[in-house]
Amino acid sequence: MPHQSSAARRTIRKAVFPVAGLGTRFLPATKAQPKEMLTIIDKPIIQFAVEEAIAAGITHLIFVIGRTKRSIADHFDSNPELDTLLRSKSKIAVADQLNSIIPKDVSCIFFRQAEALGLGHAVACAAPVIDEDEPFAVLLADDLMSAQVPVLKQMTDVFNSNGRSLVAVESVDAQMVQSYGVVDADLLAVGEVGAVRGVIEKPRPQYAPSNQAIVGRYILDGCIMAKLRDQKPGAGGEIQLTDALSGLIGDPGLDAYRFNGRRYDCGSKLGFLECTMASALEHPEFGPRARTLMQSMLNENN
Ligand code: UTP
Repeated sequence: MPHQSSAARRTIRKAVFPVAGLGTRFLPATKAQPKEMLTIIDKPIIQFAVEEAIAAGITHLIFVIGRTKRSIADHFDSNPELDTLLRSKSKIAVADQLNSIIPKDVSCIFFRQAEALGLGHAVACAAPVIDEDEPFAVLLADDLMSAQVPVLKQMTDVFNSNGRSLVAVESVDAQMVQSYGVVDADLLAVGEVGAVRGVIEKPRPQYAPSNQAIVGRYILDGCIMAKLRDQKPGAGGEIQLTDALSGLIGDPGLDAYRFNGRRYDCGSKLGFLECTMASALEHPEFGPRARTLMQSMLNENN
């Protein structure tokens, strides 16, 4: 392997997509198909996350998949029969669009998580391709981020300036903290970065150190893999990434970043619906018609 300068080694080039969860909140849709392949209009939610990663300079997409998730690998593979068919019908733009989902200089790597033992366990499945001193990104596709500057790009910019591990946070209602990993950190304004003093997974509201919740974007020091290997099951009996994060506090350091943008929780039915409606309203082709439709539905129901 050619020698890399330490600056080059610190550049974030790898992103892990843990997509092996069972998606129980979205049953029956997720009984046999991955929730990450549910579409917002015509694009699977995993593709939004992949596009965000590529826009942030990621060249190695590492998917941790499970038993019912083969269609994710198929989605990012080429489909020569379909390509030939589309071109024979002069649907060149669609064929080109499909071919450009994964640019030529970007590669996909797949690991299997045999059992859904938790997010921390899923991330650890990617350890064979992450060096112990190599920072990498983690994206949870069911947190769909809408932002002018892609959220992962915002985070790699922060990382490039201080070299510290980083979790994206947003403020949630006090009663909602028990669904998230929560940071003990000063209250951050949008775009601000602050040191994390502690993290706790799914705290009861009275024990939450703040209402700043970790959402599905992380930049992590490679040393977390060793911590995950030794991590005991935590909340819900799962190996939690949040628990291993506490091992980064102090040395080598962990920051929270209040990202600039909007998060849709597409792992929940209501969040998915909200994202679909917002995307319909903003759609370049039929946004105005979607607005008229929604307005007339509201009028009919009044
Ligand atoms: P979630 O808890 O949101 O996803 O995990 P889930 O378990 O699939 O969904 P529900 O709660 O049962 O509805 C956060 C992320 O971690 C991944 C999930 O795929 C999701 O992207 N994950 C979770 C794994 O890859 N493996 C696991 O064992 C657990």
